[in-house]
Amino acid sequence: MRTSLLLLIILLLSSCQSGDPTRSEKQIEVFTWWTSGSEASALETVLETYQNRYPDVEVINASIAGGGGSAARPVLQTRLVGGNPPDTWQTHHGAELMGQYVMPGFAASVKDLYDAEGWYELFSPSLIEMVSKDSEPYLVVLNLHRSNTLWYNKHVLAEHGIPMGDALSIEELFRIAEEFQNTEIAPLCMGDTGIWATGIMFENTLAGTIGAERYQGLWNGSTRFTDSDVMEAVRTYGRLLNYQNDDHAALSWDQAADKMAEGACVFYSMGDWVYGELIRDGLQENIDFGWVAHPGTEGIHILVTDGFTLARNAPHPEETLNMLRIMGERVVQEDFNLIKGSICARNDCDRSRFGPYLQWAMDEYAKSVAVPTAIHGSAAPADFQQSLNDALTDFVVRRDAEAFTEMLAREARASGFGM
Ligand code: GAL
Repeated sequence: MRTSLLLLIILLLSSCQSGDPTRSEKQIEVFTWWTSGSEASALETVLETYQNRYPDVEVINASIAGGGGSAARPVLQTRLVGGNPPDTWQTHHGAELMGQYVMPGFAASVKDLYDAEGWYELFSPSLIEMVSKDSEPYLVVLNLHRSNTLWYNKHVLAEHGIPMGDALSIEELFRIAEEFQNTEIAPLCMGDTGIWATGIMFENTLAGTIGAERYQGLWNGSTRFTDSDVMEAVRTYGRLLNYQNDDHAALSWDQAADKMAEGACVFYSMGDWVYGELIRDGLQENIDFGWVAHPGTEGIHILVTDGFTLARNAPHPEETLNMLRIMGERVVQEDFNLIKGSICARNDCDRSRFGPYLQWAMDEYAKSVAVPTAIHGSAAPADFQQSLNDALTDFVVRRDAEAFTEMLAREARASGFGM
């Protein structure tokens, strides 16, 4: 009797240690950098839908903090190189997807899924091309962000009697900024604990100064980083840096959005993930905050996509394909994007569910030239992206425009696309 009781206890203990075998077999690990308030809740809508539909699968949310993926990507690389991939991970289209994950053989084609789900009809051909190699798509795109929006606090401007129209020129921006300089309210909002955030302001200023065609030329060698119009953009960016909040280097991008929401700074040149944060902060669009294109970028849409891969040799392929299928669904994309501050990648979402900003973003995307972003890895290889971040880190301190543009020109040559 005693022995059988002992045996029973040992059995119970060992089953506790090894866990529930059925549970650990049915798993899926989703790797992202969505940890800010709005990012995490948007992701949660997708994971919850999955969990409700597949209650016996353990969903592991492997998100690593750090806007733009600056901290997540190196961890991911180590895991991929070490043969320990998450089942699916977040990435941007273009150079990042191709150079980091498709060419080295870390991501598998999802063409069968596209065929089975009829996605060739439901996503635009141009978008599918951005995520395909040799006619095989490698990404399920969940959302389309715009990174060249200039946000502003409406109350602060109204209290100072400053009217805002549908567009703002760079000189008008400097004029208004001057009014707030040396007051308690910083003219420009910034949170660049991650250098990429000031990189957005740079990239927006660059596109706004040299225009869509010359901007695109940077990535195929027809525009040189040392050309005079690029130099002018760098100088303008340097001027903008004089107007940002003093504590910018201690804040993350979302903390800077909170600062704008509180009225501690006025304008914020940043992607529309800021919209997600402002809404989460309880602000109302067109009442508490407004927006225009970053000066000079009217008709240009700097496109930041977020999509998910299928790992080659994914530990849980069936669960992963089910997750990707869900990510491509219309209502899932609508629910996610309403919180995230982006627009659907699918072209059949219900427009009426979205508020004024996101409807504006949809219209702008439809009528503008979409150009890639180097800051978010789509325009140029990862080595160049890293050099751009290094050059920015140096520029914000030294403000040496010649050194900055020469370094970029050198790195563009080294990466094989500059002259
Ligand atoms: C981008 C990403 C966006 C947003 C932003 C800030 O790289 O595409 O979805 O999350 O970073 O973290």
